[in-house]
Amino acid sequence: MRYGLDFGTTNTTVAIERDNTCEVLPIGANRRPIIPSLIFFPEFGGELMIGQNAIDGYLNSGMNGRLMQSIKSFLPDKNFKGTTVGGQLGYATLEKLISVILSFVKKQADAYVGEQVSEVIIGRPALFSPDPERDALAEARIVNAAHQAGFEEVYVQKEPIAAAFEYERRISGEEIAFIADFGGGTSDFTIMRLGPDHVDKTDRSSDILGVDGVYVGGNNFDSSIMWRRLIKYFGSEIEYKDWDKWLPMPRHLMQDLCRWQRITFLKDRKTREFVKHLLRTSNDAEPIERLIALIEENLGFSLFQTIEKAKHNLSSDMDTQLAFNQSGIVINECISRPEFEELTNTHITKIGSCIDQLLVTSGLAADQIDSFFVTGGTSYIPAVQKVLTDTFGAMKIRTGDAFISVAAGLALSRHNII
Ligand SMILES: Nc1ncnc2c1ncn2[C@@H]1O[C@H](COP(=O)(O)OP(=O)(O)OP(=O)(O)O)[C@@H](O)[C@H]1O
Ligand SMILES: [Mg+2]
Repeated sequence: MRYGLDFGTTNTTVAIERDNTCEVLPIGANRRPIIPSLIFFPEFGGELMIGQNAIDGYLNSGMNGRLMQSIKSFLPDKNFKGTTVGGQLGYATLEKLISVILSFVKKQADAYVGEQVSEVIIGRPALFSPDPERDALAEARIVNAAHQAGFEEVYVQKEPIAAAFEYERRISGEEIAFIADFGGGTSDFTIMRLGPDHVDKTDRSSDILGVDGVYVGGNNFDSSIMWRRLIKYFGSEIEYKDWDKWLPMPRHLMQDLCRWQRITFLKDRKTREFVKHLLRTSNDAEPIERLIALIEENLGFSLFQTIEKAKHNLSSDMDTQLAFNQSGIVINECISRPEFEELTNTHITKIGSCIDQLLVTSGLAADQIDSFFVTGGTSYIPAVQKVLTDTFGAMKIRTGDAFISVAAGLALSRHNII
């Protein structure tokens, strides 16, 4: 038996193939097939927690300790070798952090299938990085993490190709399909020739007409809400005095607020001292007090959960109220869908360009594509859907379960095809 393992930036899922059909395994709380890709390290040691338990542990501890998310997005980063997490692990390499999640997932899955499965096919984005060296580093790291998690045989498959295999099981004739997977960290695409007659071929390389991807995912949409609508609450508009000069708030500090995992790094001594200096010298103390509360009380995760919820609401509603009230940080922002679309427009443009570019490099025109299969949580954003319908027409769009098709397709993959 072999697992198909989709270690996502936001969510992780596992599937197996049995009797030519695919089963997604109930590895999560209440037998859910999905776990959030998160680890929580309690402040004073104690057992680390994974997935939904990590969120619960973090909130129950009064947000003391370190909650790590989007670990996958560090994979191509040469400079991020590891971090001090305290407790059982002390210092942990990036591979170790990922292996902790993968071994948790393996344990849940092994318990469900009733055997120790030693073979895995794990997903990777179409492009970890445009720099081939970083791309290779990221893939080597994920393979290494899978070995550390106890898998003996590890294969890698591109996530959009996996999604194509899942879609292929549901069609009755041959199609040239454009597959798009819009996740939390990346948007990945492939154009493939699919059909029931192709399923049993062991070498599918001639069916792959193109693969590409872009480092744009749901996290970027969250960051844009923070950047455009919320950083004013934390001092982006203040000035502070340095000797006899008035200076603006440093941009890099505000940029760090836009990725909540980075907010925890702002607790270092240098930043703390600088923020104290801001409090003494700024022309408006109130936002700096909020900034201090955000950093010192580890409120980044809660704030980003609120942001993410507002984003989700905007997929179905035309406007939403982004309301946050903790430790003196009171935020009330009404965001309409057109405003959201305006402030995230650069992401949509990048996605659209990558799709156009893939058509060009594959030598295909949009009208030569028979179907467009779309998956991943970010595909719920109406502006993302609009890029697709504008290019391919609404009639060609096909959907499945946005959160499990990659794992299912990985389980259905033969390992010699990328
Ligand atoms: N209704 C919704 N509207 C908008 N975005 C949504 C919705 N539901 C989920 N998302 C977003 O989808 C993203 C997660 O999707 P998914 O689980 O497919 O990503 P992933 O597989 O973990 O990431 P990746 O494939 O990039 O590594 C998150 O950014 C989440 O906020
Ligand atoms: Mg994904």
